[in-house]
Amino acid sequence: MRQILFKKLKADQKQLAVRLSVREHSGFLIGFSVGILMLLALIIFPRISRADTNVDRGKQLFEKRCTGCHSLDQDKEGPRLRGVYGRQSGTVPGFTYSAALQSSHLTWDDASLDKWLTDTDSLVAGNDMAFHVPKQDERADIIRFLKAMSVK
Ligand code: HEC
Repeated sequence: MRQILFKKLKADQKQLAVRLSVREHSGFLIGFSVGILMLLALIIFPRISRADTNVDRGKQLFEKRCTGCHSLDQDKEGPRLRGVYGRQSGTVPGFTYSAALQSSHLTWDDASLDKWLTDTDSLVAGNDMAFHVPKQDERADIIRFLKAMSVK
């Protein structure tokens, strides 16, 4: 009788040990998944917020550097710039462009805007915009802002 009881006790212990190890195992799995999710969030979230801050920085730079001659919705010394990204160069109706820009037939995208803002004359010789942005990261932020102002 004693022996049987003892055996049963041992069997119970074994089962308990198995159950515990299963629980530990799934605990590990849950912990692992949560860890992965947090890691993903850490990787993805700064990307999203970084993209936002670049547009914000681009807006500030646009206001500081460009609004002396441009506005988003009105022609000033330069043409209005809302929608410029993806637009053909020299095509705002009613704005008087230089003959050079009017006949340049460029499409404004990342590459052409970057060249334009680096040195307008090396892109379109004889144009009327006497201004450039020497810093690469400032150009990139301004372009990102113009792009954001152009998606419909
Ligand atoms: C000193 C005045 C002046 C400043 C400052 C200036 N621009 Fe211009 N911009 C012009 C003029 C004038 C034109 C028209 C050029 C022509 O007809 O050759 C122009 C044209 C452009 C065009 C071509 C638009 C089209 O419809 O093809 C873009 C793009 C542009 N500017 C972007 C900018 C950005 C971005 C800034 C600020 C970083 C800026 N400009 C600052 C005067 C200026």
